[in-house]
Amino acid sequence: MFAVHLMAFYFTKLKEDQIKKVDRFLYHMRLSDETLLDIMARFQAEMQKGLGKDTNPTASVKMLPTFVRAIPDGSEKGEFLSLDLGGSKFRVLKVQVSEEGKRNVQMESQFYPTPNEIIRGNGSELFEYVADCLADFMKTKGLKHKKLPLGLTFSFPCRQTKLEEGILISWTKKFKARGVQDTDVVDCLAKAIKKHKDIDVDILALVNDTVGTMMTCAYDDPYCEVGVIIGTGTNACYMEDMSNIDLVEGDEGRMCINTEWGAFGDDGALEDIRTEFDRELDLGSLNPGKQLFEKMISGLYLGELVRIILLKMAKAGLLFDGKKSSALHTKGKIETRHVAAMEKYKEGLANTREILTDLGLEPSEADCIAVQHICTIVSFRSANLCAAALAAILTRLRENKKLVRLRTTVGMDGTVYKIHPQYPKRLHKVVRKLVPNCDVRFLLSESGSTKGAAMVTAVASRVQAQRKQIDKVLALFQLTQEQLKAVQGKMRTEFEYGLKRDTHLLATVKMLPTYVCGMPDGTEKGKFLALDLGGTNFRVLLVKIRSGRRSVRMYNKIFAIPLEIMQGTGEELFDHIVQCIADFLDYMGLKGAQLPLGFTFSFPCRQTSIDKGTLIEWTKGFKATDCEGEDVVDMLREAIKRRNEFDLDIVAIVNDTVGTMMTCGHEDPNCEIGLIAGTGSNMCYMEEMKNIELVEGDEGKMCINTEWGGFGDNGCIDDIRTQYDEKVDEGSLNPGKQRYEKMTSGMYLGEIVRQILIDLTKHGLLFRGQISERLRTRGIFETKFLSQIESDRLALLQVRRILQQLGLDSTCEDSIVVKEVCGAVSRRAAQLYGAGLAAIVEKRREDQGLENLKVTVGVDGTLYKLHPHFSRILQETVKELAPRCDVTLMLSEDGSGKGAALITAVAKRLQQAQKEK
Ligand code: BG6
Ligand code: BG6
Ligand code: GLC
Ligand code: GLC
Repeated sequence: MFAVHLMAFYFTKLKEDQIKKVDRFLYHMRLSDETLLDIMARFQAEMQKGLGKDTNPTASVKMLPTFVRAIPDGSEKGEFLSLDLGGSKFRVLKVQVSEEGKRNVQMESQFYPTPNEIIRGNGSELFEYVADCLADFMKTKGLKHKKLPLGLTFSFPCRQTKLEEGILISWTKKFKARGVQDTDVVDCLAKAIKKHKDIDVDILALVNDTVGTMMTCAYDDPYCEVGVIIGTGTNACYMEDMSNIDLVEGDEGRMCINTEWGAFGDDGALEDIRTEFDRELDLGSLNPGKQLFEKMISGLYLGELVRIILLKMAKAGLLFDGKKSSALHTKGKIETRHVAAMEKYKEGLANTREILTDLGLEPSEADCIAVQHICTIVSFRSANLCAAALAAILTRLRENKKLVRLRTTVGMDGTVYKIHPQYPKRLHKVVRKLVPNCDVRFLLSESGSTKGAAMVTAVASRVQAQRKQIDKVLALFQLTQEQLKAVQGKMRTEFEYGLKRDTHLLATVKMLPTYVCGMPDGTEKGKFLALDLGGTNFRVLLVKIRSGRRSVRMYNKIFAIPLEIMQGTGEELFDHIVQCIADFLDYMGLKGAQLPLGFTFSFPCRQTSIDKGTLIEWTKGFKATDCEGEDVVDMLREAIKRRNEFDLDIVAIVNDTVGTMMTCGHEDPNCEIGLIAGTGSNMCYMEEMKNIELVEGDEGKMCINTEWGGFGDNGCIDDIRTQYDEKVDEGSLNPGKQRYEKMTSGMYLGEIVRQILIDLTKHGLLFRGQISERLRTRGIFETKFLSQIESDRLALLQVRRILQQLGLDSTCEDSIVVKEVCGAVSRRAAQLYGAGLAAIVEKRREDQGLENLKVTVGVDGTLYKLHPHFSRILQETVKELAPRCDVTLMLSEDGSGKGAALITAVAKRLQQAQKEK
């Protein structure tokens, strides 16, 4: 009995002595609670640094956006391939995420070796090897005939700008293949897979193992929002608020951030706690100076740390009687599994003896006790450090959510965590101590990170399918060069029909003679009134032209025309116009002045002289009754008479295209074409009299108002019209009419966009599938909004704000799609304008028998003026379709009122001359 007590006493004493000895030697490896709190605070600061746009470049903890935005919601489904590369084992898997409703995941997998010559050889050989393994797997599983989406778990730091891309920042752990750093590993793998003609896979997602782990655990526990790996390497990810992620546009929702915490301390932030053993280990590693935090924690290094310590202590005569073996001198001879075995509760001591003996040592009882304690200190420090960093993440999550207490789940994986007997318990305990205001559940990922990677891939594949649908819609608006050439050709044909007496009445492009026969010559002068009706604004103007100096002074006032007047009776409309004139004369102090008036009336009129114009039909937003078929000059005269207050001499009626051409022609005599890209779409040009069969005489030229807006009304461009164009037409005031105008001008582009958005929403591709009242409202996308949305200078958030102003509650993804839709629609419009313009300049060039034509086009209209890309695309298209014409687009700064006044001046002079005759 006494002997037993004596033995026990002896053993306890021995243990105490050994422990004291080791504790003294490893004093620096034991971290107090204060130190851990301090490390936690430092890591919090590191996270902030990594997330900031300006601080990220120099941050050692990279905080990489992963483009994984949501945790699984159970609706994921499908069959996926998965690769899991970078942990201790390389696996290829097939994952079946089954039928909606039932949360059921089935996996089949196969491990493949990763020999050092492959993972540290040539990069392309590494990926070829991976592709070979994949092909082998697909063959054995009978999957060769299938095209499957693939998710790649790649456990190294990668910079991503989208889910299906990852630029390797640097290799870590055991990998060091040449030529891969700074390249896209998805691309590398895709290229390697391409070499296998017999398999077809689509890599849809690249995820870090932490992310895969978090998603795997989140599939079973929706509270899971953190993933931690303590395996070969160590790392963590968590869900961060988008508003805190500077590197990614958008601010709603959350995105998973791969912290890459292994690099914590690479900037010297942990030098005070690193020991001489850590420094020695680092020097002998594949990546000296890098992953310093990881090297104090993870499985690849724990055993090596123990070995270095044992060697040092042996050298100092503190262990093994000062004897060392050659195995103890050999790097890597002690592995983490040995550390775990030595720390086992019951067999630990026996394991220690066996392991040390295998290393060629002859350990005493005391040595074994000491070595066991060394292992404990090393692995405890590891757990402590992990706990401190994890506590920082948990605190951040709690603060983001503005909660006093956080309830959350952390998904865990990695061999250290899984096989070390005490590790999980220690880690949990320290975390709970460091963040007492968090209720943390630690959930071990039983199935590795692949299930989660498959969830991410499932979401990606749904997004891809949706993207394809969106692209299909956008493709309808993409016109090929041939299609544009065809439009140009047909437009040219229509011009000829309109000019010929026999075909004129049937022509959809009416080619209306305007009785404007020359460009201003600079001798025009006088004071004129002008009206400008039919564009966005109705104006009354006073124009003073001084001769010689080509200088013009203008005074104008904008008046509103209420919808009920635009679409009321003709009498009401003209009475309103006269009312506005009266107001203007009053305002200018010109009451009673009898001024000559030029009337810009931007609708198709059949003219028999400069001051007669019969409205053929209303276009755009006008629909006043009793006007079509009437001479609008007469209607205006009668309204003036009805008012019986003043008299005006209406000298000319002018289309806005003609007014614009004249305005520009006053400055540039080369201007022989007028173009409007505004509410409506139209073009006029100077034609040889001999080509105008409707008007007597062959001398000189006359301006033709083409009214090309009606192009296509005979169905000749139906091949490029879409269902959305048809919808817009159906909802317009003049169904079946002005088809080209409805594909090109400001009044309709927004409507086309709206129709597309409604359709995409119906298919669940936008606005969460909800068609709002607002989206049902006609006319919400005015030209100015389209123009703003498409501005290159605008960030996504600003686009989103515009949409919100319009009452459309959109996510950032929605905003991207809306912007693309706007782009497709306006681009087609500009190209169609280009085709039309190319048709006229080519005709003019050929008619004049010129090799090359140089011509100026006067342009006006809000679409042209406000849209950021319209004029460029228009210009490019003309250049492509009419390469022999040098076309200068000249913006009309003064509107068409000035041109109308110039025309009035010329007409007045002619009138006078005729009277004098
Ligand atoms: C596995 C995951 O379970 O754990 C891998 O599937 C991960 O993606 C690995 O990399 C990490 O642990 P270890 O110890 O294998 O590096
Ligand atoms: C104005 C002209 O500048 O532009 C009008 O003065 C013309 O005559 C108008 O109708 C066309 O553009 P919008 O966009 O106002 O229809
Ligand atoms: C290394 C890698 C990291 C990975 C971790 C765990 O730290 O850099 O991406 O998550 O190991 O495998
Ligand atoms: C409509 C009108 C046309 C006008 C154009 C631009 O197409 O019919 O006359 O020039 O709009 O305002």
